[in-house]
Amino acid sequence: MKNFNRDIFLIGFMGTGKSAISSQLGEMMALEVLDTDALIVNSTGMSIPEIFERKGQDYFRTQETEILQKISKTKRHVISCGGGVVLKAENIEIMKKAGKIILLTASAETIYQRVKNDEQRPLLKGNLNAEYINELMGKRQAAYHEAADIIIETDHKNMAEICSEIITKL
Ligand code: S3P
Repeated sequence: MKNFNRDIFLIGFMGTGKSAISSQLGEMMALEVLDTDALIVNSTGMSIPEIFERKGQDYFRTQETEILQKISKTKRHVISCGGGVVLKAENIEIMKKAGKIILLTASAETIYQRVKNDEQRPLLKGNLNAEYINELMGKRQAAYHEAADIIIETDHKNMAEICSEIITKL
């Protein structure tokens, strides 16, 4: 197995499989697995929907940057990032310095099928349909591609295939 001494950041729209893939990849590469959303929930004591509702999106984005700064002080993690992590150029800069950025992609319809029963995503609340997902994803497309070192299409692939593709391309 490839020995990787930096961080691996998984980015991409909600429902592209970042959490599941990071767990498996971390296990395969013997790297510690972290999740920026989970770390924010831990440090604030609030759920993601609660943070958005009580503190607003800007507060959440500030937390995201602080978490990335902390993580990047040490190495050898696989980090599953929140879908909006690329919205701040500062975050992209932190990740680029710390390691490799892997973009996971999927079609809006696939994403819709994966997230349609999940109520933990405030940005899709009241707009949980493939058209809206496509629209929001389109607005973020340039930022995702600017950040990515490696792009992995996830439609019609299983976890093992996705992980081995990532490892090959690292
Ligand atoms: C967000 C994605 C979510 C979470 C928050 C905002 C986004 O993470 O960070 O709800 O802006 O796309 P996942 O991509 O893990 O769902």
